[in-house]
Amino acid sequence: MLYDKLKKNKRIPFHMPGHKRNTNLLGNDFPYDIDITEINGFDNLHCPEGIIKEIENKAKEDYECDNSFVLVNGSTVGILAGILATVKRGDTVLIARNCHKSVYNGIELAGAKAEYILPEVDEYGIFRAIEPDILDEKIRLYNPKLVVITSPTYEGVNSDVEKLSETAHKYNIPIMLDAAHGAHYVGYAKYADITVMSLHKTMPALTQCALAHVNGDIVNPEDYRIKLSMLETSSPSYILMCSVEGCLDMKLDYWTFHIEQDKLVKKCKELRHLKLIDYDITKLVIFCGYCNINGIKLAEKLRNEYNIEVEMAAKNYVVLVLTACDDFKNYKLLRKALFQIDGNLKSEEFIPVDLPALPEKSSESVINKELSDFDLSAGKVSAEYVWAYPPGIPLIVPGEIISEEIIDYINDNIKLGVNIQSTYSKLPQKIHCQL
Ligand SMILES: Cc1ncc(COP(=O)(O)O)c(C=O)c1O
Repeated sequence: MLYDKLKKNKRIPFHMPGHKRNTNLLGNDFPYDIDITEINGFDNLHCPEGIIKEIENKAKEDYECDNSFVLVNGSTVGILAGILATVKRGDTVLIARNCHKSVYNGIELAGAKAEYILPEVDEYGIFRAIEPDILDEKIRLYNPKLVVITSPTYEGVNSDVEKLSETAHKYNIPIMLDAAHGAHYVGYAKYADITVMSLHKTMPALTQCALAHVNGDIVNPEDYRIKLSMLETSSPSYILMCSVEGCLDMKLDYWTFHIEQDKLVKKCKELRHLKLIDYDITKLVIFCGYCNINGIKLAEKLRNEYNIEVEMAAKNYVVLVLTACDDFKNYKLLRKALFQIDGNLKSEEFIPVDLPALPEKSSESVINKELSDFDLSAGKVSAEYVWAYPPGIPLIVPGEIISEEIIDYINDNIKLGVNIQSTYSKLPQKIHCQL
């Protein structure tokens, strides 16, 4: 039973959700007693006027926005609604290529088409911030009806959201910020027209809890609410809504968190072979490109030998999530584990692997498809998405021409143990391509 498995899981959570199952802090009753539907006196998420409106008003004040919406289907639903509320069939949406698959799905649902900004990667192979001048250039090139940027990214890289918003607004184009990993930043959501943030990722809300914020007069908040209403469950969980409220009201001890996080980061900077990268207070990225272990093996070692579960393992790094709900005793355990592992590693030259070039797009739309051998699919037009999960960023998008380079990149990652998924789940053997 899932419930039993969940109850038995005692691994130390350096991963989402942000409440870290810290029952000492949060209380531990499974809340059937508060699981209701929209009965009289309990308002309605789809047209809130009472107690749910109060939560949204609180969110709007906290995040300094014009309008806030409680979401119980994750940032995913907020992103889908943002696209459907702003673009029409045939419109162009300019997105950072490292956007989450929900952005791609939203564009497909809207019948719009995507053009990309490919962010540069840093020396560790991590996507950098999006630069406002590049955004400006791409807006002039593609004349989009919406811009979508992810900030912070899964690894915690932040773009200058104020400048990016100013750039889009120069052309009167709305910008949607996917800040699924940025709910811990108040004052972050006031710049973009739409900002979506998962309260369950870096804040202590139950999984699926999120917020969307709509600002200014380019996007009509009523249009946004209507699209949300079309997409979101008609039986929103009051437990989740309670959790959103609790999360907004909770007085977390950020002072201690900052001190403990800082101590952990400073100490880990002394690792000899593993390298700590801290782009964001809630993300600890441990880079292992300079030594004889890869990210997948490092995650396995942490799990099997130290009972520590990381958030994400990539070829050259692992990502761990830190939040103000952490039991700080675990930071010592993590430190000890990392130093023990580090002590047994050897230096190796890091040969940076370039990420594959942006695949070429086919001029025809995919109508009929056939199942092809993945290894022999170079030159064919993909009819599927392929992505690593996490982080859920597409490597191949339907309509793109599959290259030898991307086949090698994907196969290499599958061999290493990276969790690569595809629309029809037939990788690494097969992929659907245009007939
Ligand atoms: C960048 C990004 N955006 C959006 C999402 C979707 O968020 P949610 O799981 O709250 O639906 C994720 C999920 O991992 C994500 O990483």
